[in-house]
Amino acid sequence: MAEFERRYFEDPHFPPGLKGGDEVAGYGYYPGYFPIVEAQLASLAEVSGARTLLDAGCGKGALAEYARRALHLKVAGTDRSVYALGHARRRAGGELSCRADVCRLPFRDDGFDLVWSNGVLQYLEAGAAEEALEELTRVARLAAFVSNIAAVERYSDWGKHDSLTRLYLTPGAWEGMARHACQKRGEACRPLALPYEGESAILLLKAMRPSQAARMVELSIERMRRLGAPARRPPRMERFLARCARES
Ligand SMILES: C[S@@+](CC[C@H](N)C(=O)[O-])C[C@H]1O[C@@H](n2cnc3c(N)ncnc32)[C@H](O)[C@@H]1O
Repeated sequence: MAEFERRYFEDPHFPPGLKGGDEVAGYGYYPGYFPIVEAQLASLAEVSGARTLLDAGCGKGALAEYARRALHLKVAGTDRSVYALGHARRRAGGELSCRADVCRLPFRDDGFDLVWSNGVLQYLEAGAAEEALEELTRVARLAAFVSNIAAVERYSDWGKHDSLTRLYLTPGAWEGMARHACQKRGEACRPLALPYEGESAILLLKAMRPSQAARMVELSIERMRRLGAPARRPPRMERFLARCARES
């Protein structure tokens, strides 16, 4: 297991690859990805006025460190990997981080203003992913942002060589699963599929309005441009904004 985890995080040729050796600003995946995530998180923090954040499935803790340093949020990270968590805990402010399965988070209801989970639920079977959505929603006070690999990636070279990813879902499918998870818990929560291209992202709104979600997405696209990330206005943007206006 330890060898698997070391290779997963450090070997750029290990499927699903594009991690570790390719780290940019301490973040894996591909050059240009960090500004996208940075823009999304900074915009959500700005619009929500959040002070605390849980990064569930934080990996080596790069985003958590960014959120502490640049956004002045109090951040805890959790991850199932002993290897990743060792790195996350050694970062500045990382001592709040702990090992936990995203389906069983050791925190109280509404324990964090915001909950963040990027690229984690895609590795679970559908039943476990729904449990994870219940947990992420339970511990969020304002909102939870959940982003996963885009459905179309299943047919890409990445998808063909990646034996780890279980769920290649559209944002609409994630929204449906999240709605079911909220209904099961009787949780007052409104899941909203986000229009970003290249990923399947949803926002689970608890004490935030759809109009704030719309503002967050608009701000994030502006920020991505400023940060030099390739960010054209998503084709589904107008439909998304109209829905937010209708549901606010
Ligand atoms: C693709 S990495 C994403 C890491 C980080 N969120 C990021 O965006 O860079 C997936 C992470 O999910 C973690 N993970 C996978 N299944 C998990 C589970 N059931 N509970 C908690 N963490 C999990 C892995 O250990 C790994 O750190």
